[in-house]
Formats: sequence, C-alpha cells, structure tokens
Amino acid sequence: MASLKIKNICCIGAGYVGGPTMAVFAQHCPNVKVTVADINESRIKLWNDSDTSNLPIYEPGLDKLISNCRNKNLFFTNNIQESIANADMIFLSVNTPTKSKGVGAGKASDLRWVEASARQVAKFAQGHTIVIEKSTLPVRTAKTIQRILTNSQEINLKKPKKSFSVLSNPEFLSEGTAIKDLQEPDRVLIGGEDQIAINSLVDLYTNWVPCEKIICTNLWSSELSKLTANAFLAQRISSINAISALCEATEADITQVSKAIGLDKRIGNEFLSPGPGFGGSCFQKDILNLVYLCEYYNLDEVARYWEEVININNWQKDRIAKLIVNSLFDTVSGKKLAILGFSFKANTNDTRNSASIDICRDLLEEGAILSIYDPKVDIHQIKKDLEIKSETKDMGNCLFANSIESATQDAHAVIILTEWKQFKDIAWEETIKKMKKPAWIFDTRSLIDVKKAKGVGFDIWQVGNQTKNN
Ligand code: UDX
Ligand code: ADP
Repeated sequence: MASLKIKNICCIGAGYVGGPTMAVFAQHCPNVKVTVADINESRIKLWNDSDTSNLPIYEPGLDKLISNCRNKNLFFTNNIQESIANADMIFLSVNTPTKSKGVGAGKASDLRWVEASARQVAKFAQGHTIVIEKSTLPVRTAKTIQRILTNSQEINLKKPKKSFSVLSNPEFLSEGTAIKDLQEPDRVLIGGEDQIAINSLVDLYTNWVPCEKIICTNLWSSELSKLTANAFLAQRISSINAISALCEATEADITQVSKAIGLDKRIGNEFLSPGPGFGGSCFQKDILNLVYLCEYYNLDEVARYWEEVININNWQKDRIAKLIVNSLFDTVSGKKLAILGFSFKANTNDTRNSASIDICRDLLEEGAILSIYDPKVDIHQIKKDLEIKSETKDMGNCLFANSIESATQDAHAVIILTEWKQFKDIAWEETIKKMKKPAWIFDTRSLIDVKKAKGVGFDIWQVGNQTKNN
C-alpha cells in the first residue's frame, strides 16, 4: 500500500490529549522525531522540568514515559514555527471549549484555537503535510480546516507550492487511564479521503496497535463517531444517576441494581457507577455539539433527547447540594464542611466541569465554610474554578486543606466528591472524634464501608442507597 515515510511529527497543543498521546507515539516510533509545540510558555517549561513530578498534568505512568523519551525523540517547545516547518505530519490538539458568547453560545464549540492553529500551519508548513484533527470537534470541522489550509496561503510564485491532506483521528483516551488507553486502545479511528495519508498514519499505529483494531471511515463518520461515543457514555451515567434517585426513594440498592443489569452482555458492566454527575472536558461539550448539530438540521426531537442527558446531570448535582443542606437541619450557614475531592474523577488533576465546582458553589451560596482537600488539585486551580478573586491564601469561606485530617477537623460533615483511593479507608473512628455532632458523611461515589462508618456513630447518605441510611 502506498504511504509516505513519516520522520517528523508535530503536535500543536501540549495539553491533556497532546502530551500523553505524543509520549506514546514517541515510545513506539523510536525513529520518528516527535515535537509537541504550545503557545503557553509556563506549560512547556513544566513539560521540560527535569523533575517529572512537576509535569503540568497528572496521569499515572506518564512521568516514566516522559523520562524515557524526552530529548531523545520527544521534544516540548514554544517554537511553533520551526516545529510546523519541519513536520511531515501535524496533529491539532488544541482546546475547543463550548462558546460562551455569540451565535451558538452555550452549545457550539469555540473554534478560535483550531482556526488559529490551522492558520499557523498554512503559514509555516513546507511541502506536503498531513494535518490530523485530534481535538474533539464538531462534525464537518475537517472541511473547515482544509479550506483554511488551502485558502490562506500567501501567493508567492518563488516559493515551492505547499499541499495538505486532512484526516480525522479522534482520541478516545480517558483521563486517569490515558496511558493504558493509548497503549492498548479498543480501536483507532481514522477518517479521511486521501488513501496515502491514511496509510501513512496507519503505518505509525501498527507499530503497537493490531491492524484489526484500526478502522478507516469517511471524515464525517469519524467526527460523528467521537461525539456519539461520548454521548452514549454520558447517557449511561445519567441513566444510572436517575435510577440512583429512585433507589434512594425505594428500598433498592444501586450497587445491586448495577451489578444485576451489568451482567447482561448486551448492557455490559462498565460505566454503571452512580456519582455526583459526570464532569470532564468532553461529555458536556460533545453532547452540546450534538444538540447544536441536530438543531441546525431541524432535528428538534433528536436535539431534545440528547439535551436531557445534560439536564439529568445538572439535576443530580443540584439535588445532592440540596439534600446536604436538608440533612444538616436545613442550614449550612457558618458550618464547616469537609470537601474531599475536587478533580472530576480520580487519578487526574483536571477539574474541567467537575461536579465538585457546582456543588461547592451551591454550598457556598448557602453560607457554608468549605474546607477542600484534593491530593492533586492545587489552590490556584480551586480559586480559579470557584471564582475566588483574592491574591492571598485567604479564600473567604473556602479553606484549602492539605490533608484529610485538617479538612475534617471541626467539620459538621464530610462530603466525598471524587473517588480517590485514599478516601476509601479513612480512619473514621479517629475522624469523628474531632468533628461536630451529629457528624455526617455524604458519599457521592459509593466509596466507603457504610457499616464501619455507621458503627462509630456517623449519619450517612450514600448515593443510590436508601436501605443503609436508616
Ligand atoms: C471521556 C471518554 O471516556 C473518553 O473516551 C473520551 O476520549 C474523553 O471523554 P474522560 O472525560 O477523561 O473520558 O473520563 P471518563 O472516565 O469518561 O469519566 C467522565 C465522567 O464520568 C467523570 O466525571 C466520571 O467520574 C464520571 N463517571 C464515569 C461516573 O460518574 N460513573 C461511571 O461509571 C463512569
Ligand atoms: P485537551 O484536553 O484537549 O488536551 P488542553 O486545554 O489541556 O486541552 O490543551 C490544549 C493546549 O493547546 C493548551 O496547552 C493551549 O495552550 C494550546 N494551544 C491553544 N491554541 C494554540 C495555538 N494556536 N498554538 C499552540 N498551542 C495552542
């Protein structure tokens, strides 16, 4: 099969997707030079820090990979121009948040960073370049990128002509298990029209991914598959969260229900854990993209169907904040509450769309004093997410705790929002001694041993589990 021999890869965007993905490419393609370029200087500095515990993102196994490949065939740089000019293949892995203003605000993706990076590629690329969209993007974005690439070149008859092939190669990694997901993907999806470009990318992947796991489709199927996969996953979580509320109202136990339905092969047992509501940079954004797309094509019923997945997610966060207030005698004003976990899931320092943000905001609004502990999220991020303006360590009604012990000291309640392993086996007997009574645990992740905690005197609410609460 005809293909191009790729010697230089550039990835624009050194974030949660670009960083880990390129580290795995570098590991498996030792003869390819992989350069990750980003406009953010401090981020690149951290990627180049000799102490890998300072990497800008926390992802299990990433530090080891970086130590092995960095400055051999993996490079992090702010020199975007040079990285683009040298590359035969460029991955676009920049941020694509939901638009906050203008047409499509609150639904459509903000493509300004994609457009800016495509324009940089158009300007600096040399010869023939394969451009790959890696960020989650609305359907038909590849066509937009293609137009920018072909239309925004300067006409200069003295310079050799440039050409581009655009492919879609969506990323399915899940944060916290990104390295494993990249090393052993369920599938690799490549969408495109130029067979030589497709073959060139397939050649790279076959260094570590079995051929039968590599699927090639047209551009739009590839783009839509990514949105659909995330919409289906998010839908499962909203489904199980909806049933968790029903379990609390009846005498069913959500862990038993999850197990019973998950044993049906057609349903499968993953993604059936109830929680405080899904977070992360993808689920909400992708569903909103889907809704926007359906509205654009006058498929209103389809748009409303998917929108409900988000509505249930918001309702879950809201009802949890309310039930905490109700349980604490209808007021949390002036009461210290220990918040355990701020990232949107365990094993990441990413807080984008974390349920913790909305739940903390609601509790702050009610006058609570929050003492927040997360093993990987730093104070600056928490301040940013909760829109705390002060420059000092003072966070008003928010305290930044550096251990479970200091978070829970004198608290009326412990609220577990992220399923970090260390929250599973807290020494409850010691903890309750230092708390106000009645002392509550609100476990939104079905994490703790309820019997043990109840045995030492806690009042407990656990998601989807009414029986244990009586
Ligand atoms: C997701 C997709 O899984 C991944 O394929 C895609 O590339 C990017 O979006 P990510 O957002 O990193 O990955 O994490 P994921 O594990 O999917 O979790 C998303 C949210 O759902 C988290 O808040 C998590 O806590 C929540 N969740 C997940 C549940 O509440 N219950 C579950 O059973 C699973
Ligand atoms: P993701 O989760 O999709 O990886 P992140 O926000 O973690 O998203 O990372 C996106 C990265 O892309 C950021 O580090 C940002 O600085 C970078 N970026 C955005 N626009 C450009 C650009 N035009 N050129 C280079 N880097 C860019």
